[in-house]
Amino acid sequence: MKKILILHTDVPADAGEDELDCLTQVRAISEAILSLGHRPSTLPFGMDLGANISRIREDQPDIVFNLVETLAGKGSLNHFATALLDFLRLPYTGCRTDAMFITSNKPLTKKMLRQGGIATPDWITLKGEAQNFAPADVYFLKPCREDASVGLDDRCVLQAVGLEAVQNALRERQEELGLDCFAEAYIDGREFNIALLASDQGVRVLPPAEILFLDYPPEKRKVLDYRAKWVENSFEYEHTIRSLSIAPQDERLADRLREIALLCWHLFGLRGYARVDFRVDGSGVPWVLEVNANPCLSPDAGFAAALDFAGIAYTDAIGIILQDALQP
Ligand SMILES: Nc1ncnc2c1ncn2[C@@H]1O[C@H](COP(=O)(O)OP(=O)(O)O)[C@@H](O)[C@H]1O
Ligand SMILES: [Mg+2]
Repeated sequence: MKKILILHTDVPADAGEDELDCLTQVRAISEAILSLGHRPSTLPFGMDLGANISRIREDQPDIVFNLVETLAGKGSLNHFATALLDFLRLPYTGCRTDAMFITSNKPLTKKMLRQGGIATPDWITLKGEAQNFAPADVYFLKPCREDASVGLDDRCVLQAVGLEAVQNALRERQEELGLDCFAEAYIDGREFNIALLASDQGVRVLPPAEILFLDYPPEKRKVLDYRAKWVENSFEYEHTIRSLSIAPQDERLADRLREIALLCWHLFGLRGYARVDFRVDGSGVPWVLEVNANPCLSPDAGFAAALDFAGIAYTDAIGIILQDALQP
């Protein structure tokens, strides 16, 4: 029996669904830990680093299960938790600090993807990355360092001609959201994601999931925005579904997605569990949108669905993730 401390986001009472979801994960993982015969305890990770250190030391865990997704509401600060666990020299689940830091910064991730020869849509930031500007006529504006579709709505898609128009729209969006944003060439096409799970014989690539946009009116962009992910009863929530069955004509595409996801795992030095998000353009080319280190482990989210489809019990996967935490 091991003592497992579940370190999680300090979710404020007035948090949005995207943050409240962390508590659903805490409950599911506590149950899994109990059924694996270990002893779970929980601790919210707050801004007071000294208090975090004392409480973690008091607990004396054998392994920390890291579910810290945001700090002070910001996804950009999630690597503070792993940095502190590195400092305490405690084994923890999922990705290490470098991968957490890089993958929660989308433009930096894209730079590494390009250098690693993996296709990711052209993009520009306001901090001098306009060299990636290609005159795509449609751009998608999104926060550089947030996750879970935070800040994404119908207004993210920009029909723009020329660099200046994109830069102006970016400035406006940043001001409105209070977050650094970048613009990415919009990929009008199908959407897939691939989940990955550590194993003692290297990483296991789970079956691809496609996100289907059902009955979207022609003028509405098919994107997995905040409403589609979190606002129950909204049109977007009700009309986006996950499909894990791959049609025979998509087998080659599915193989290519698996191959790219695996390349990402190695390129970013991912650990434990991860998910790579893709759009596939009209000519069948897959483009990586982002790499999710420590994706959501809620029983109703994509990772658990992929586990289920692959015939891996949720509790067993939690056991594998814990086991991986003990590897060097
Ligand atoms: N360049 C793009 N082209 C088309 N759709 C996009 C693009 N970027 C993001 N999206 C849509 O927005 C969703 C969220 O974007 P993503 O980059 O995965 O960020 P998040 O971290 O919020 O999940 C995607 O699942 C996709 O539906
Ligand atoms: Mg995503």
